[in-house]
Amino acid sequence: MRILSGVQSSGRLHLGNYYGAVRQFIELQSQGEALYFIANLHALNTVRDGEQARSLTRETAVAFLSLGLDPNRATLFRQSDVPEVLELYWVLGTLVPFANLERAHSYKDKVARGLPADLGLFAYPVLMAADILLYGADVVPVGRDQLQHVEFARDWATKFNVAYVKGYDPADPLGSQKGHAPGILKLPAAQLHEGAAVLPGVDGQKMSKSYGNTIDVFGDEKDIKKKIMGIRTDASAVDAPKPTADSPLYSLLQAMLPATEFRDVDASWKAGGRGYGDYKKLLLEAFHAQFAAARARRTELLQDPAELDRILAAGARKARVMAAPIIEQVRRAVGLA
Ligand code: ADP
Ligand code: TRP
Repeated sequence: MRILSGVQSSGRLHLGNYYGAVRQFIELQSQGEALYFIANLHALNTVRDGEQARSLTRETAVAFLSLGLDPNRATLFRQSDVPEVLELYWVLGTLVPFANLERAHSYKDKVARGLPADLGLFAYPVLMAADILLYGADVVPVGRDQLQHVEFARDWATKFNVAYVKGYDPADPLGSQKGHAPGILKLPAAQLHEGAAVLPGVDGQKMSKSYGNTIDVFGDEKDIKKKIMGIRTDASAVDAPKPTADSPLYSLLQAMLPATEFRDVDASWKAGGRGYGDYKKLLLEAFHAQFAAARARRTELLQDPAELDRILAAGARKARVMAAPIIEQVRRAVGLA
């Protein structure tokens, strides 16, 4: 089973990203042949500064490695290091109905928020489909916001196969029945991050870079403490039972504490007797217990840029080998080769 996902290198990693996505990526590396890439071509839509784009790409790779991505198990690479993806992007684009892109949620949301509607943003799902189809991915772990994009990748792979593969029957994509041929592009399945609750930020809204309410996994120690101590709480007295609904502190404790420890916290929370300050200290301790090792690994990796280059170059080589037979068939089918 080939598992593939991309991560945009548009900012620093926060607890929402970790518990909502990264943790699942790292768990999946032991369940199949995993490919993860830093979507630095996609990131050009938002990062318009070369130096910053370069360093965010590296930061993101270092973050994944520090958190347990094992480059001997999973393939980690930069999207732009496999230029074949841009070739497939173009070929797919010749088959993509304009109307599909016009109804893409992410595009509509961004335009509604006032982002300029340029071609890069509009064509974003086509590049994402090329990312998925180039490596013949079986499974694509994503958050809910990306489900539609994976659906598009399936639809466009089907369109390509119907147009270019003689004997392809969309009802039999593997070509297992007599007289049918398998597609060149494999249909991927999305895998929604299971059990990943939406984590609130310090103000109680969804934790997000765009809201300035994040707790960053690799943030400065003082800043982490300040953020945690500043989590919004209500005016419940120390002795009073505390409400669990709409309490970012409760939700963060639930996400971060081991289940057995959380059970005790949950009991005292509902019974009363402990103040919010206590719980915040507990959360801070849990943060350090959870991330101390990753933070130390990150410091080490940052001191050894050549090692990171080596890992990314080896990842790109592996990824290109996987892409080669597929892009070759595509070129032949459309008449480029
Ligand atoms: P942000 O909202 O900070 O810009 P992204 O949109 O870049 O975050 O999200 C990257 C990944 O992290 C996505 O898979 C998304 O589902 C997940 N994610 C982001 N914020 C949260 C959150 N608050 N809770 C759970 N998962 C989240
Ligand atoms: N669009 C994805 C996101 O914002 C990142 C991404 C790019 C991706 N290409 C992909 C995810 C291919 C899965 C597969 O999160």
